[in-house]
Amino acid sequence: MAYFLGIDLGTSAVKCILVDDQGGVKSSHSVEYPLLQPQPGWAEQHPEDWWKGTAACIQALLTKASVQGEEIAGIGLSGQMHGSVFLDRELEVVRPALLWCDQRTAAECDWIEQTIGKEELGRLTGNKALTGFTAPKVIWLRNQEPQHYDRTAHLMLPKDYVRLKLTGAFGMDMADASGTLLLDVAKRKWSPEVVERLGIPMEWLPPLFESNDVAGHVLPAAAELTGLTAGTPVVAGGGDQACGAVGVGVVQQGIASVAMGTSGVVFVHDDTYQMDPECRLHSFCHGVPGKWHRMGVMLAAGGSFQWWKNHFAFEELQQAEAEGRDVYEYLTALAETAPLGSEGLLFMPYLTGERTPHPDPKARGGFIGLNLRHTKAHLTRAVLEGITFGLRDSMELIKASGIEIKELRVNGGGARSLFWRQMIADIFGYPVVTVNSTDGPAYGAAVMAASGVLQKDVAALCDEWIQVVDRVEPNPLQQREYERYYEVYRTLYPTLRTTLHQLNDLVSP
Ligand code: XUL
Repeated sequence: MAYFLGIDLGTSAVKCILVDDQGGVKSSHSVEYPLLQPQPGWAEQHPEDWWKGTAACIQALLTKASVQGEEIAGIGLSGQMHGSVFLDRELEVVRPALLWCDQRTAAECDWIEQTIGKEELGRLTGNKALTGFTAPKVIWLRNQEPQHYDRTAHLMLPKDYVRLKLTGAFGMDMADASGTLLLDVAKRKWSPEVVERLGIPMEWLPPLFESNDVAGHVLPAAAELTGLTAGTPVVAGGGDQACGAVGVGVVQQGIASVAMGTSGVVFVHDDTYQMDPECRLHSFCHGVPGKWHRMGVMLAAGGSFQWWKNHFAFEELQQAEAEGRDVYEYLTALAETAPLGSEGLLFMPYLTGERTPHPDPKARGGFIGLNLRHTKAHLTRAVLEGITFGLRDSMELIKASGIEIKELRVNGGGARSLFWRQMIADIFGYPVVTVNSTDGPAYGAAVMAASGVLQKDVAALCDEWIQVVDRVEPNPLQQREYERYYEVYRTLYPTLRTTLHQLNDLVSP
């Protein structure tokens, strides 16, 4: 049997899966690594930890599944986007990578927009300067750590570093490269205008590939470490959002997805390049060759629920453990006992600042509308509703562009809960479907590997391998009720913006 190995290099862990040549998942394995937060708002990781974790994960997976390296026909990589890996001439890591959720580059974003001009930047890249993106991180390095900047000879994204260790080859796919702010997304090539005007050496940037292009072959040394066979082809793969969308079959016009990881993403496929005139949505290349997508990104979606679980659900955690249940399932059941709208309580999910639709590193979260009747069940429900209202903000921007959405595919943590799927259907007003593939970005990476190795169209493979298994329709009564709450929710950020900034400045001026 031939297998395809899908690797998803996440923020908390790397996940590897083995997919057979009919699209079935044979086995999966994960290995965690640390997230460093040296200062408030900063988020870093050691690229060496990614490589060590990935090598250990592949080896454990092959052993667990009793699969030999030579049975792997191809490998695909997905990964957390935007992170800046700086390497020197000897390919040594210069400093820990700044991650997608790192918020330190507000001043650099302002500088980029002044240097190039907001409109011109949008015209050249399809996007605006956001703290999470890669180019501001490079400028930060030049401003704050010139000794590291001077040593740097190569810039790459997280999963491309792992591919370099695996194959010795430099490369980046256009989907992930879109999030650097250095790509001419419409033309699918580096933007010489932007790169030059920012003063970033063009030779730091790797060659570009479509996601299903073979971008290297496993090196003997990497084979030794992982149990893979030297010479196995490795495709370019994609950023986790493009891979996640491919992994649930969002590969044609009219299909959108909501992905619930630490971040929350509303994603829509575009057959042709489309750009939000004000760049509130990201316009990126898709992992489907020659196609694009737009997306809105909430920074703390699953992250807000995880925060709630970590700090306020100690009893529930114990209870869930005693009953052998998943704590999130337990908390969702608790939320369901509170009425729709949490009896007048709203939650703002801006715990790590926000990106879409409020690009603001100083935005902060909160509960608004508390009264004495409110219990933990209400607060838990308000967290879920607040996350979903925040995601609806991105969907509003997509809808405003006139694109017709037929269905919404959900993936990630939230997809498992029928209660949350119904909430998404009611708050968004679209049918919400789930599909048979539940491994998200890792599955999309395996699809790209299969597409590249078997020379099959990505969309055709998705059609063959991915089927809808469940469909939830919006409930008109609940939809109307939620609409009244959403109208209030969308006034919160503009009304409280100054207060949120003042509070943030008290802690980190
Ligand atoms: C997308 C983004 C996040 C990370 C999370 O633009 O920043 O979804 O890719 O891994």
